Amino acid sequence: MKKSVLIFCLVFICAGIVWAQSGVKKKRPLPHDYGKVVISNYSERAGLAPVVFDHWVHRAKFTCRLCHVDLAFGMKTNTTGIKAADNMKGYYCGSCHNGKMVVDNRTVFEACTKNRPDDAKSCERCHSQGKTVKKEYDFYAYTEKFPKERFGNGINWEKAEEDGIIKPIDYLEGISIKRTGMVVQKDFTLDTKLKGMQNVIFSHRKHTVWNGCEVCHPEIFVGVKKGSTKYSMPEIFEGKFCGVCHTSVAFPLIDCQRCHTKPVQQ
Ligand code: HEC
Ligand code: HEC
Ligand code: HEC
Ligand code: HEC
Ligand code: HEC
Ligand code: HEC
Repeated sequence: MKKSVLIFCLVFICAGIVWAQSGVKKKRPLPHDYGKVVISNYSERAGLAPVVFDHWVHRAKFTCRLCHVDLAFGMKTNTTGIKAADNMKGYYCGSCHNGKMVVDNRTVFEACTKNRPDDAKSCERCHSQGKTVKKEYDFYAYTEKFPKERFGNGINWEKAEEDGIIKPIDYLEGISIKRTGMVVQKDFTLDTKLKGMQNVIFSHRKHTVWNGCEVCHPEIFVGVKKGSTKYSMPEIFEGKFCGVCHTSVAFPLIDCQRCHTKPVQQ
């Protein structure tokens, strides 16, 4: 088979997987729903609606690293096991939602309490799955001035951060450990080993802004040596490697050209 035909087939298969992921099984989420997580290990047993957590409002204010390393939230929905008591003691959501922390000149509302059983409204701000709850943050109003992109949240988060439109907090007093700055690795090219298919440029610098080092190493990429992790597009589509983030929170895989950027040498 000619190389170009082979590439065409592979792209076709990948596009097929994207389609199967988004078009048939699941509808492609709207910009304000991209990165939405429904946490439902314990709520229903306690007679409460499951909890809806939106990434967009949180990632505009905090880094991924802060939540997924310092506060120990899992990188897969419902793997953390968050108890009301944990929140009340100041862990997990309660690290910030304690009725005291001030962010952007606003006091962050409190998470679970024992003392307000009749105050259903305050609980429903988080225990909101299936309910019509008026949000204080409206996605479209809040992100109106953010630089735009085509997929995912429809926002170029990279540029929003670079331009200083958002300044994600990476350190919480009394919770985060002071870390010594690590040397950031150079950007590198991942060779797709297919003639005609654009190679991928991976930027350590850009990723480290959000993820520090610890979100990726060693759990997602053991590889402290380039080439020690072997990955392929089908595995990425299954949610491994780059797909851990780029299927659910960071821009999605349908945006082929945002990763496959490096022109091929003919
Ligand atoms: C304010 C805290 C917070 C921030 C900031 C945050 N996350 Fe999350 N993330 C969570 C929570 C909570 C969950 C759900 C965990 C659970 O259910 O056990 C989650 C889940 C996830 C998941 C799993 C989604 C799925 O479909 O299963 C991924 C991937 C993820 N986050 C990536 C990121 C990335 C990338 C960033 C930065 C751009 C980020 N998160 C920023 C708190 C946060
Ligand atoms: C690192 C700090 C932090 C953590 C951890 C965190 N949040 Fe938040 N969250 C915030 C801040 C700050 C806001 C904006 C609050 C404001 O300005 O009123 C917010 C807003 C929200 C809102 C939006 C409410 C609205 O009316 O628009 C919801 C819902 C929410 N958080 C749920 C959660 C849940 C559920 C968790 C845990 C799974 C969680 N948050 C963990 C800091 C955090
Ligand atoms: C800032 C978000 C937030 C708010 C506000 C909130 N909760 Fe929760 N709560 C959570 C999360 C996250 C979980 C874990 C959900 C799950 O796994 O089902 C949870 C779980 C619970 C659970 C079940 C877990 C257990 O330990 O038994 C109870 C009970 C609970 N909350 C009570 C309340 C009550 C009562 C209120 C209102 C006074 C409230 N919560 C408000 C985030 C919140
Ligand atoms: C978004 C994920 C991600 C983040 C964040 C990240 N890395 Fe990496 N890192 C990678 C990938 C992917 C590779 C290539 C591994 C492979 O192909 O086996 C790599 C490779 C490396 C290598 C080997 C480079 C070589 O030339 O052999 C070192 C050293 C490294 N990372 C250190 C760091 C440090 C230090 C940080 C924080 C400053 C960091 N990484 C942050 C994904 C990440
Ligand atoms: C831990 C989560 C995570 C993993 C794993 C990850 N990324 Fe990202 N990546 C992000 C976030 C967050 C951004 C910021 C943009 C966004 O959220 O849409 C980003 C941005 C990018 C960008 C745009 C910025 C740039 O460099 O021009 C590219 C390209 C990219 N990632 C490629 C990759 C590739 C290739 C891999 C696998 C080798 C990978 N990413 C693994 C979280 C991740
Ligand atoms: C988040 C970044 C990212 C996005 C988005 C992305 N790819 Fe890839 N792609 C990669 C990485 C990383 C590799 C593996 C490079 C290597 O072999 O080291 C790869 C490899 C490939 C290969 C080579 C065959 C293989 O399995 O390794 C093909 C073909 C391919 N991608 C097609 C696509 C198509 C089509 C899309 C859009 C539907 C897409 N890719 C979107 C990162 C991405």
